[in-house]
Amino acid sequence: MSKFALEEVLSVHHWNDTLFSFRTTRERSLRFKTGQFVMIGLEVNGKPLMRAYSIASPNYEDHLEFFSIKVPDGPLTSRLQHLKVGDQIMVSRKPTGTLVTDDLLPGRNLYMLSTGTGLAPFMSLIQDPEVYERYEKVVLVHGVREVSELAYADFITKELPAHEYLGEDITEKLVYYPTVTREEFHTMGRLTDHIRSGKLFEDTGLPPIDPRQDRAMICGSPAMLDDTSALLDELGLNISPRMGEPGDYVIERAFVEK
Ligand code: A2P
Repeated sequence: MSKFALEEVLSVHHWNDTLFSFRTTRERSLRFKTGQFVMIGLEVNGKPLMRAYSIASPNYEDHLEFFSIKVPDGPLTSRLQHLKVGDQIMVSRKPTGTLVTDDLLPGRNLYMLSTGTGLAPFMSLIQDPEVYERYEKVVLVHGVREVSELAYADFITKELPAHEYLGEDITEKLVYYPTVTREEFHTMGRLTDHIRSGKLFEDTGLPPIDPRQDRAMICGSPAMLDDTSALLDELGLNISPRMGEPGDYVIERAFVEK
C-alpha cells in the first residue's frame, strides 16, 4: 500500500488574502489523535511535494480539515491556494506529533497558546470531548497581526456553543482569547506579554498559571515557540521531554515556509 492516500477536496474557504482552509475526504482506516499532523501535498514535476499540516478537524468526523497560509512563492502553498472542489491531494497514512493530551499530566486548566496558523491543531483539540473531561477550563489563546487573521472566530464563539453534543462543555469550559498586534482590537498585544503582565488572567477572571495544576500546549512560529517555552519554564512548568513522557506542557514545531 502506498504511503499516501489520494483524497478529494470537498470545500475551500478563503479567510483573507493570506489564509485559507479546506476539507477533504478521509480514508476510513485513517486513525489519529486530536492535535496530530499528517504530511499533505501534490505531485509536482512527477514527484510528491509534501509538507506537515496539523489536522484541524476532530477525529470523529468523516472529513479532514486543514488550515494554511498562502506564501506567494512557497513551493507548496503557492499551488495549494488554488485548490478547487474535486481536486485531489495526497495525505500521508501516518499521523504523528507531540501536541497530544496523552503527553500532558492531568491538571486544572489547560492553556492552548497559538499564533497564526498554529491555531490548526487546537481546532481539532477543542472539539475533542476528552479534553473537557480532563481539564476544568480550556483556554484557547490566538495571537495574530491583523483582525482578518482571526480565522474560525465565529465558529468558536457562535457555532461550537450551539453544538448538539459539545455545546454544554464548550459553553462551560472553553475560554477563547484572541489578541491582535498590528491593528485596533479590543485585546491588543502579544500573548506572551499578556501572560507576563497578568492581563490574560484579569480579562478572563482565571487564576494566574500555577505550575502545580495548570498545563499548556504551544503552536506557532519558531520564535514564538522559543519565547513562550522560556516563559512557561520561568513560571515553573516542565516540558514533556519526549513523546510518551508526559509533562506540564508540550510544543509543536510551526509549519511555516510552505
Ligand atoms: P508581532 O506583530 O508583534 O510580531 P507571525 O505572522 O510573524 O507569525 O506573527 C503572528 C502573531 O504572533 C503576531 O501577532 C506576532 O506579533 C506574534 N508573535 C511573533 N513572534 C512572537 C513571539 N516571539 N512571541 C509571541 N508572539 C509573537
